[in-house]
Amino acid sequence: MQTIAQAQATIQDDFATEVLNGLSRRPRSIPCRFLYDARGSELFEQITGLEEYYPTRTEIGLLERHADDIAEMAGEDVAIVEFGSGSSRKTEILIAALPELDAYVAIDISAAALSEAAIRLRERFPGLEVITVTGDFNDAIDLPDKLIRTRKLGFFPGSTIGNLGKNEAIGFLKTARELLGADGALLIGVDLKKDESILVPAYDDSEGVTAAFNLNLLTRINRELGGTFDLAKFAHEAIYNAEAGRMEIYITSREDQEVTVLGQPFSFARGERIHTENSHKYALADIAAMAEAAGWTHARAWVDDNNLFSVNMLTQAG
Ligand SMILES: C[S@@+](CC[C@H](N)C(=O)[O-])C[C@H]1O[C@@H](n2cnc3c(N)ncnc32)[C@H](O)[C@@H]1O
Repeated sequence: MQTIAQAQATIQDDFATEVLNGLSRRPRSIPCRFLYDARGSELFEQITGLEEYYPTRTEIGLLERHADDIAEMAGEDVAIVEFGSGSSRKTEILIAALPELDAYVAIDISAAALSEAAIRLRERFPGLEVITVTGDFNDAIDLPDKLIRTRKLGFFPGSTIGNLGKNEAIGFLKTARELLGADGALLIGVDLKKDESILVPAYDDSEGVTAAFNLNLLTRINRELGGTFDLAKFAHEAIYNAEAGRMEIYITSREDQEVTVLGQPFSFARGERIHTENSHKYALADIAAMAEAAGWTHARAWVDDNNLFSVNMLTQAG
């Protein structure tokens, strides 16, 4: 396993390469995993408490309501492996429902979010082994040897899968299946298709927290890559693309301007955009099809009364 310093150096090199490549291509785009530096993780936590942001409270409601069913399907003596764990707030519900839990492995690109969550969880569950892995969940993950023979319950909440394209999502589900092993299962939270009038405010709220989260990417580029972005000259945009079935998030230039990153100049025309995030919305049938394409069985889905969000249990065939 890499040390935290090695993992952070890898993320830093990756950030420089992806930003320079992303600003050089047309249309411009930067992968959404870079939205989560320490400040980005903090702002995401604020988003989860917003009135307009229905996903977090709805998923928490589903996990609380169905914790016993989930625990029964998960079985005893399992380890939880969470992809994109962030604050691990939802995981606390699972940990409390699984008294025979062997260990909790939290994987996240944000070292700050991981260390804060680990401190809180070790305090609340003193007997539980908490293992943190700083890195990209799309890469091969090295689990500690002692977990090789332990049955594993993967956890992928927050509809983070929606940030991936459909093929990338299937690729992720295949990689997760291999990591979790032949007797593993995966509990995955997926946002459902719904009207634009609910979706757009969730990604462009009245208090401007989602805007601050998106624009923080420019602050991070300025700080870590010597960028010269003036945040006042860029705007946050959240658009529903009905054909693709997804929310698309952009940073849009308010005027013609030139910006430098790592000494390289980039010119922006007024209205020119950097694509920073997609959030795909699915029907339950799409989720089952993606799971099955990756070799999983879509064993069970729990949905709230307003059909906003789903929690899905994927198991191994047979
Ligand atoms: C939408 S948030 C969800 C956070 C939390 N799991 C929840 O449900 O509230 C996405 C989380 O995944 C992390 N993340 C995003 N892309 C990642 C990647 N490629 N590899 C590892 N972590 C990633 C972010 O740092 C963030 O904590």
